[in-house]
Amino acid sequence: MKRGRDRAKQRAGESAAAEVESGMVVGLGTGSTAAAAIRRLGERVEAGLDIEGVPTSHQSRALAREVGIPLTSLAAATPDVAIDGADQVADGDLVKGGGGAHAREKVVDSAADRLVVVVDAQKESDVLDHPVPVSVLPAAEPTVTAAIAERGGEPTLRAAEQKDGPVVTDNGNLILDCAFGGIDEPASLAADLDAVPGVVAHGLFVGLADVVHVGHTDGVDVRRP
Ligand code: 5RP
Repeated sequence: MKRGRDRAKQRAGESAAAEVESGMVVGLGTGSTAAAAIRRLGERVEAGLDIEGVPTSHQSRALAREVGIPLTSLAAATPDVAIDGADQVADGDLVKGGGGAHAREKVVDSAADRLVVVVDAQKESDVLDHPVPVSVLPAAEPTVTAAIAERGGEPTLRAAEQKDGPVVTDNGNLILDCAFGGIDEPASLAADLDAVPGVVAHGLFVGLADVVHVGHTDGVDVRRP
């Protein structure tokens, strides 16, 4: 029996998976809520759904293989839709990167014709105030740290849990989790972060979401920002 929040994530993921039709190329997001969508897509593939997936991480690739979703890449196909999770949602804008996959997620989610976001209700907020993950070239960690502090952020190098030292992403970068307090102008902060040399990608996804499936224990709200 799943606990409440897990159940809400599962409902959101499964609701988003129902939007997928045969013939589509699907961007496969990362995290536990996106994983619920991938599992449901796997069941639908077994029942005859004809799709190809573009993974956004080692995790989503491994899960897609496990559940039998054929894979392709951005070199071969453009996703019709991407289904991805988020750490916080406000007005359709997102903070992502809790799993450190935001660099590839941003590439795949931006390339897709539509981005379908899947979250549980606890992720909704009036204003984005979740720390923003910023992945950086390892050599640029000191200069990016200083640049973020100059912009009023408080960066913390993300530490690994079962390894000494920092998290190293699928792409070989480090992650600074940057607290900015309430982010009143996410587009402006996103542009500032994009302009810092050494920043590979940050977790602010502004204006990308087409629809947000918000899972509750007893149902799903579908919001169109
Ligand atoms: C990974 C992400 C995830 O989508 C985000 O952290 C949400 O994860 P979960 O669905 O497990 O709460 O951005 O980089």
